[in-house]
Amino acid sequence: MKKTALLTTNVPGFPKRSGKVRDIYELSSELLLIATDRISAFDVVMPNGIPDKGRVLTQISLFWFAKLADVVANHVLSADLKELPAPFRSDEFEGRFMLCKQAKVLPVECVVRGYLAGSGWKEYQATGTVCGVAVPAGLGECEELPEPIFTPASKAELGDHDENISFERAAEIIGTEMAARVRDVSLQLYSAGRDHARGHGVIIADTKFEFGIDDDGELMLIDEVLTPDSSRFWPAETYQAGRDQDSFDKQYVRNYLEEIKFNKQPPGPVLPKEIIQATRQKYLQAYTLLTGEAFPWA
Ligand SMILES: Nc1ncnc2c1ncn2[C@@H]1O[C@H](COP(=O)(O)OP(=O)(O)OP(=O)(O)O)[C@@H](O)[C@H]1O
Ligand SMILES: [Mg+2]
Repeated sequence: MKKTALLTTNVPGFPKRSGKVRDIYELSSELLLIATDRISAFDVVMPNGIPDKGRVLTQISLFWFAKLADVVANHVLSADLKELPAPFRSDEFEGRFMLCKQAKVLPVECVVRGYLAGSGWKEYQATGTVCGVAVPAGLGECEELPEPIFTPASKAELGDHDENISFERAAEIIGTEMAARVRDVSLQLYSAGRDHARGHGVIIADTKFEFGIDDDGELMLIDEVLTPDSSRFWPAETYQAGRDQDSFDKQYVRNYLEEIKFNKQPPGPVLPKEIIQATRQKYLQAYTLLTGEAFPWA
């Protein structure tokens, strides 16, 4: 069967807003997050999508929300199509939505890094720190840190890049107590996720969590959790410290964009079929490895 990508949703009578990947509907007090198949690279959304990517991200997030529920409360209310208003009960949405509690989103992105990669590696080589946090000398590229570190970022407006901030700055933005709380919870979530993933052939090098406050003032984990979009996943099989690693999911897209010398400004180029197919296989593989289950919509 030929798979097509769901690039956008449109449900008459229901206004939406759109992030890079998700379409968001406000249903009275609840929030309906629908993950489309849009893919972004270098913060630019590509014109074509990856069929079923939204389902993979949603199913991986649901897996972690359930698994990590004893660490912190989360925003999930339901993933059952029958719970949605009738106009949303369509097969194309099956598996790719979450009905959620509406949160007051904390304006700090909670990044945890367990390995020295990307901008962290660059900074470490220059200054021996990662986002201002001192890290032992003598570590190689992509090497595991002795302890995971919390390196918050400020939430950028749509189209902007997130900006790394110090823990002190995060404390100024959301308060010292809240900053300490989300730091501790983020480190716990990462460690639990890392350990599970490692036992399933996936290294989670780093990740970004988002938190919000519910109507009762309680902290909850929101958005997506430990997915290939919110994290750096590496295949454990080929991992080796001391060199760059293949990214699990977006390597084909990034390589292609480098090859055609994409200037990293919108609009993105149309991705060739082979790149779409190879990328789709990687997303499905991430789901299968992490959950130990076959992907239900493959
Ligand atoms: N329970 C919730 N309550 C309110 N907002 C939420 C909740 N869960 C997720 N969100 C927000 O919904 C949006 C999800 O859309 P999407 O993932 O496409 O955004 P994005 O463009 O990737 O932006 P970001 O880089 O901030 O994730 C995010 O802005 C996220 O902060
Ligand atoms: Mg997002």
